Amino acid sequence: MSQIIAVLDFGSQLTQVIARRIRECEVYSRIYHYSTPAAKLRADGVAGIILSGGPQSVYARKAPHPDPEIFRLGVPILGICYGVQLMGHFLGGKVAPGKAREYGHGVLTVKRPGALFAGLPRKLRVWNSHGDKLTQLPPGFQATGTTENSPYAVIEDRRRRFHGIQFHPEVFHTERGVDVIRNFLLGVCGVKADWTTRDFIAHAIEGIRAQVGKGRVLLGLSGGVDSSVAAALLHRAIGSQLTCVFVDNGLLRKGEREAVEKLYGDHFSIDLRVVDASRTFLRRLRGITDPEQKRKIIGRTFVEVFEKSLRSIGRADFLGQGTLYPDVIESVSIAGNPASLIKTHHNVGGLPERMKLRLLEPLRELFKDEVRRVGTALGLPKEVVWRQPFPGPGLGVRVMGEITPENLRVLREADAILQEEMYRSGYYYKVWQSFCVFLPVRTVGVFGDERTYDHVIALRIVESTDAMTADWAKLPHEVLQRISSRITNEVRGVGRVVYDVSSKPPATIEWE
Ligand code: XMP
Repeated sequence: MSQIIAVLDFGSQLTQVIARRIRECEVYSRIYHYSTPAAKLRADGVAGIILSGGPQSVYARKAPHPDPEIFRLGVPILGICYGVQLMGHFLGGKVAPGKAREYGHGVLTVKRPGALFAGLPRKLRVWNSHGDKLTQLPPGFQATGTTENSPYAVIEDRRRRFHGIQFHPEVFHTERGVDVIRNFLLGVCGVKADWTTRDFIAHAIEGIRAQVGKGRVLLGLSGGVDSSVAAALLHRAIGSQLTCVFVDNGLLRKGEREAVEKLYGDHFSIDLRVVDASRTFLRRLRGITDPEQKRKIIGRTFVEVFEKSLRSIGRADFLGQGTLYPDVIESVSIAGNPASLIKTHHNVGGLPERMKLRLLEPLRELFKDEVRRVGTALGLPKEVVWRQPFPGPGLGVRVMGEITPENLRVLREADAILQEEMYRSGYYYKVWQSFCVFLPVRTVGVFGDERTYDHVIALRIVESTDAMTADWAKLPHEVLQRISSRITNEVRGVGRVVYDVSSKPPATIEWE
């Protein structure tokens, strides 16, 4: 068993990011409630403690405080932001409310590198977010780094191996932040870097087995990265106690349902139930052209169909979900942001209570790139692990205007050609999303000697890192030409292909 680093959580949203950075250093950590007794940490054999940041002031009436005994455990401690304030407060220093909240970039000057800044530049851009600050060092401590606003930006008590940093090494905006954390883990705590994705999986499997016992788990499989990885992980842990449900809403891409059946049903031998609800979805969508109304109908119908199919499966104890850490944050902090809609479509909120199911979210602490690594290690193919995002309402929001079986057929055929060419040219994995949009207009063309009056397909191919902004992809003309001529030649009913050259903002990625 790897040694444990304890992260005491004082309520910062960044606590999980600290844990993530520790995983990046291939070290095992566990997040503990801030009040965890020192005896428990000793019993768990922790090799070091990190005190997270937190939104409070150490003097506030209900400020979260640790068990003071943690400072007598004899293990190294790293206090981050609020964590430094705690060190000041508990170890005999002074903390004063800052006049103004210090927020944003600063420049750190390292006076004495010590173990924490070994091998790092003497000047580093760092990111601050704090109100209070340390005004007097606790006995035994020395200041080893300063910023413009703080003479005590980095402090240390070498004898006790206590370190404090006023800024946030865990965030991306702090230069070499992860190296500071690594230095603490390997250099100060002396743990080994040997905690890999495989260990994460083994540990997660143990946890899932302990939680589920002999219970039964249901999981809604969408075919996307998150639910796929959750399915593979749960299946590895509990085998036949897992049942996956895949809803065919009639708005899937060509071959999607078959691919899911083949991978999960045949390859992984997962108990997979495919529910064909396409007729219900398409019936309810008949005559609807308004995008938001489409989404509402699709979302509502999904929840209804999903719940009904779960009931028909019989008794179950848990509902598995591929929730990731950013979803947890997003759903609380940026409601209304389109990216957060990605989850709300499959949002089965209320369902667990109605069906007396407990939630099981084995990926809840992970970030997307980590989930991809887990998926790869579990043997999921590249096409699944690196799949482009696909909206919950599927082709429903890519057929402009009314969704009819014929319009869907045209879009599906065209989209399949686009994807094929994206894979073939290698661009599929280089762009954020690539898809076709069906336009409900007809345009004049010629085919042989005949005049045609056919549909238009728009190609939407964008580059992005988080879907908040996006740029249209500058694909080579030959690739575009091939896609265009194949679509007009091979898809009956398409007379014209256009390329969308709008960026987001102002255009969104999807057309509806
Ligand atoms: P937009 O079009 O808003 O899209 O720039 C940003 C990202 O979100 C996806 N998207 C959706 N996902 N349900 C989803 O699950 C939706 O209703 C929805 N609308 C947009 C889109 O594909 C892109 O990745």
